[in-house]
Amino acid sequence: MARRALIVSGSAGPQDIANSVLQRFGFAPAESALNIAEATARLRTDKFDLVIIALQGVSAMELATLDRETRRQGTFVIGTAMQSDSDLILRAMRSGVNEFLLYPPDPKDFSGAVDRLMRRTHAEGKSGSAIAIYSAKGGVGGTSVALNLSFALARAHPEGNLALVDLVAGGGDLRVMLDLKPQYDMSDLVGKIDRLDAELVRSLLTPVSGGVWVLPSSEHPEAADLLDAGTVATILAHLKQYHAFTVIDCEHAMNDRTVAALDAADRVILVTQLNVPALRSTQRTLALCQRLGYGDEKVQVVVNRHQSSDTVSLADGAEVLGREIFFKIPNDDRTSAGALTRGVSVAEFDPQSHLAWSYEGLAGRMNGGLSEKAGTPPTSRLGKLFGRRRK
Ligand SMILES: Nc1ncnc2c1ncn2[C@@H]1O[C@H](COP(=O)(O)OP(=O)(O)OP(=O)(O)O)[C@@H](O)[C@H]1O
Ligand SMILES: [Mg+2]
Repeated sequence: MARRALIVSGSAGPQDIANSVLQRFGFAPAESALNIAEATARLRTDKFDLVIIALQGVSAMELATLDRETRRQGTFVIGTAMQSDSDLILRAMRSGVNEFLLYPPDPKDFSGAVDRLMRRTHAEGKSGSAIAIYSAKGGVGGTSVALNLSFALARAHPEGNLALVDLVAGGGDLRVMLDLKPQYDMSDLVGKIDRLDAELVRSLLTPVSGGVWVLPSSEHPEAADLLDAGTVATILAHLKQYHAFTVIDCEHAMNDRTVAALDAADRVILVTQLNVPALRSTQRTLALCQRLGYGDEKVQVVVNRHQSSDTVSLADGAEVLGREIFFKIPNDDRTSAGALTRGVSVAEFDPQSHLAWSYEGLAGRMNGGLSEKAGTPPTSRLGKLFGRRRK
């Protein structure tokens, strides 16, 4: 879902310039209000991410009422004025105006201000958290979990931003499962590591209705060779700056790239099923996670396609793994396949299904852990663990 801005007439300069700045930060064309009173009234019934007002001639009372509404909604306010009168600026800042710009706003200053505000969207100055979805075995439902968890998190945290990254290099499934025709994908980021910044990464994401911003993988198999651990770590670090949650669909191969993603993640969800081959593979992954130095609280096991006819019970599964089963997702072929065929999330396909509730429940367990932890350098950690470099 695009962000929404409300501009009080005559406060932000030419409309096309304002819109071209806002568009870079994921805003839809701005809506306008005649004056601050109308803007305040709109905020009572409508949600906006940003309001731009002209400060000159606005009374303290008007600012205070606007402040009440913007605080309630978590809306940011940019104030503009013809002169940088320090009294006026101070009064505005005290009434909840977040940024001040000279009128007419210079596009560079304007985008700087929007950038600062959007970085604060999910948490004042803190980095969001990344959740890596991993399974060593294919077909157990990793991509389904990544996709549906993203939409559930976006719904539960409308105040934050949500990024969904396809790290399955050279042909991941998210593009198909969300029926995307993206303008950009991972191939637009590889080989540009020196030029990457949070704004550039964000501007290459594809917004999907439901508030999820997707970075699809490249369709070209050769792109896989170009995507190295350093690039993965850099991209994820930038995404975490902007997004309350960054959900990563990891590839099954445990290579340097995958380790970089798991390292960058605040939480790793190991998707498995209650059958012997899947549990064996999860057991090996848990051992590897331990050797990678991840604490038990970072790595959680999620059982997918759970049903009473499973050959192994939940309790036995937990015993085999030596770990509590963090969450179980029911088996539901009809809903899962239906959503996939329509290219939408399960919640959009059938919001009342147990499967949709279950993904929502999983999202509820992902407390918005906001960390300031710096990622460890990922390059060749695997090489050290195994005494050789694996690709
Ligand atoms: N809870 C579920 N109930 C029923 N079917 C499911 C469930 N979760 C996933 N599936 C189905 O299982 C199949 C594989 O799912 P998905 O692509 O998410 O797995 P994956 O682990 O990412 O596989 P891949 O190895 O291709 O990456 C899909 O057809 C999907 O619809
Ligand atoms: Mg997959």
